[in-house]
Amino acid sequence: MNLPAEPTSAARREALLAWYDEHRRDLPWREPSPDPYRVWLSEVMLQQTRVETVRKRYREWLARFPSLEALAEADGDEVLKAWEGLGYYARARNLHRAVREVRDGYRGTVPDDPEAFRTLPGVGRYTAGAVMSIAFGRPEPVVDGNVRRVLARWNDDPAPSDRDLWEEAGEMVRAGGGRRPGALNQALMELGATVCTPRSPSCDACPVAATCAAFAAGTQEERPAKKRARSVPHHEIATALLLHEGSVLLRRRPEEGLLGGMWELPGVRLRESVDVRVALARGLAEEWGLEVLPGDELEPVSHAFTHLRVTYRPVCCGLAAENFQGDPDLVWCPVDEMDRFALPVAQRRMAALAGWSGR
Ligand code: ADE
Repeated sequence: MNLPAEPTSAARREALLAWYDEHRRDLPWREPSPDPYRVWLSEVMLQQTRVETVRKRYREWLARFPSLEALAEADGDEVLKAWEGLGYYARARNLHRAVREVRDGYRGTVPDDPEAFRTLPGVGRYTAGAVMSIAFGRPEPVVDGNVRRVLARWNDDPAPSDRDLWEEAGEMVRAGGGRRPGALNQALMELGATVCTPRSPSCDACPVAATCAAFAAGTQEERPAKKRARSVPHHEIATALLLHEGSVLLRRRPEEGLLGGMWELPGVRLRESVDVRVALARGLAEEWGLEVLPGDELEPVSHAFTHLRVTYRPVCCGLAAENFQGDPDLVWCPVDEMDRFALPVAQRRMAALAGWSGR
């Protein structure tokens, strides 16, 4: 990647900061002297979730867990429940573990040292850069999808490497004596989100179009080049809508892995072209000692995770016999109390199909 000459870099910095001061969105976590916990929370939420969704959920979260201490004290189930619907639940589990480490190892004060901060669960390079720069004014870079696109276009580079991107973002944030690093990082992300958009970028409103190599070459829409989509495996899960005396059977997923610690309707993976009812009855008996009487199959519900597509095949079931007394990860939940449990979106959809209190 050709690094821009110094004067261009300084001019870009100033143009970006001036643009940001005038055009930045009014977002609730952008306070004059930001609380590190709030910045951290907003950046974790923003990693996979749209700004408009985060705006609302961030406020609700703070009403419930107003401080790092309050979150650290909360129970794991309560935290997952509060994250429900945002997806990528490892973010919530890690944030919860991390604030507990801050409470216990740092007397409740978020460390302002990037090395120390990065040892906390779930804190990678991006989160560390964002929190260090925005909350503590440290000249640490951030590179997210927006920054990647902005830099790729400035340099007219179809496939910038992560190494080059972090290096260039680092040089930029440290230039000019590292002044206003939080504003600079947010300006870059904001430009990518609102002006230098993936399709039809608004180059006429761009404060740095004059020094943009892609704009000069007319290649902005092709930069960066699209990565080839990888094929994602597809699983089918036969799922039991098991209703017995007004209660539904729920199981808790293992702590580690996909949707760790969340609750769901019990199900088994369909591996061959076995009938869904047969597979379900067999699987539930083998795995949980449950004898069920499968009835109607409802509409399938599909969900795309990052590395997996799942089609759930819900089947209404009655109970013939159970033999799992004492298993804390299986509970009978009264149909009208399903809201107490943290359930992933697809599970709520299946509950709604059954006419239970789904959303
Ligand atoms: N995307 C993620 N974090 C952001 C921030 N602080 N400002 C703008 N866009 C963002």
